[in-house]
Amino acid sequence: MKTYRIALIPGDGIGKEVVPAGVKVLEATAKREKTFALGFEPFEWGCEYYLRTGRMMPENGLELLRPFDAVYLGAIGHPTVPDHISLRELLLKIRFGFDLYVNLRPVEILPGLETPLRGRSAADINMLFIRENTEGEYCGLGGRFKRGTAEEVAIQQSVFTRRGTERIIRYAFEQAHRRPRKRLASATKSNAMQYTMVLWDEVLRAVAKEYPDVTVANYHVDALAARMITHPQSLDVVVGSNLFADILTDIGGALQGSLGLAVSANLNPTERLGPPMFEPVHGSAPDIEGRGIANPIAAIWSAALMMEHLGEPAAAARIMGALRAVTGEGRVRTPDLGGKNTTEEFTAEVVAAMAN
Ligand code: NAI
Ligand code: MG
Repeated sequence: MKTYRIALIPGDGIGKEVVPAGVKVLEATAKREKTFALGFEPFEWGCEYYLRTGRMMPENGLELLRPFDAVYLGAIGHPTVPDHISLRELLLKIRFGFDLYVNLRPVEILPGLETPLRGRSAADINMLFIRENTEGEYCGLGGRFKRGTAEEVAIQQSVFTRRGTERIIRYAFEQAHRRPRKRLASATKSNAMQYTMVLWDEVLRAVAKEYPDVTVANYHVDALAARMITHPQSLDVVVGSNLFADILTDIGGALQGSLGLAVSANLNPTERLGPPMFEPVHGSAPDIEGRGIANPIAAIWSAALMMEHLGEPAAAARIMGALRAVTGEGRVRTPDLGGKNTTEEFTAEVVAAMAN
C-alpha cells in the first residue's frame, strides 16, 4: 500500500487551527478509502520560530521538505514580524525554491452558500485562476537609495521571462482545453506596460495557435476586475501574472462570500524540484486567532486538491462530497458565514458525512 508523506506547516494564527482540521479530514479519508496511507510530519516554522531563532525556517528548510510528497500549509504572518520578512523568508522561499510556477485557485460557490453579488448564484460563478507564481512583479529585485531622506528612491523590478510566461500560459490553455466551456481569459496591461505585458500578449497569441478549440479573450486587468463583478458568468479559466492574479483572486474570494473559502495549490506540472504545496488563500487572521472559530473550509478544500494531485481522485471526491453535503445542509456554519459553530464542530460534521 502506498504511503504519502505529507509535511505540515501550520504556521501562524489560525493556520494552527485549520491545518489540524484538514488533517482530521485527510485521516478519515485514508481510513475510508483503504487504498493508501498518510504519514504526517509537522514543522513548527513561522513567526514564533523567527522570534526564537531569527529565521522563518532553518537554513536547510527546503532540503528537509524535499523528500515529502506534498506540503500542507496553514498561514504565515503575524503582527510581531514584518510581513515582507515572514512572506518572503518562508512561503516565497518554498514557491521559488521548488519552482512551483503554477498557483491554481478555483473560485466556485459551494452548495448552500451564497455569493454576495446581488442576483447571482452558483451557476454564474465557476472560475479557475492560474496565477504565475515564481517571477513577475514578486521576483524581489530592486533596492532603496538615499534611505530615509527626502530624496529617497525605491525601485521594485518585474521580471518576465519568455520561458516563465510561456509555461504558465500553456498550463492555462491545458486547463481550459479540458473544461467544458473551453474559455481562457488573460489579464494584461499592455497599454501601460509596453515591455513585460507586450511580451505576455505575444506569448498568449503564439500558444493560442496550438489550442484552436479554446476561445481566448485578453482583457486589461482593471477591466477584468470589473468583469468579475459585472459578468462573472463569462469567465472560465483566467491566467495572470503574479501580482495581477494575486489581486484578482482576492476578488474571487470575495465573490465566494468569505476569505475562509478560497483555496490554492502551488504546483510544478513539468519538473520536480520539490513537493507541491497546498494552502488556503487566507492569512493568519490575528483578529480571530485562538478562539476556535476559523472557517476550515479552505483548508479542507486544499486537502482535497492535494489528494487529487497526489493521484487519488476518489479520496478528493470523497472530501469534496462531504464538504458539499455539510455546506448544502447549512446546519453547521462558522461565524464568518453567519453561523455560531466552531472549527471543530464543522470539521466533525465533514468527517461524519464522509461515511456516505
Ligand atoms: P487574513 O486573511 O488573515 O484576514 C482577513 C480577514 O478575513 C480577517 O478579518 C479574518 O478574520 C478573516 N478571515 C480570514 N480567514 C478566515 C477564516 N478561515 N475564517 C474566518 N475568517 C477568516 O488577512 P490579513 O489580516 O490581511 O493578514 C493577517 C496576516 O496573515 C498578515 O501577517 C499577512 O501577511 C498574513 N497573510 C498570510 C497569507 C498566507 O500565508 N498565504 C495570505 C494573506 C495574509
Ligand atoms: Mg493575496
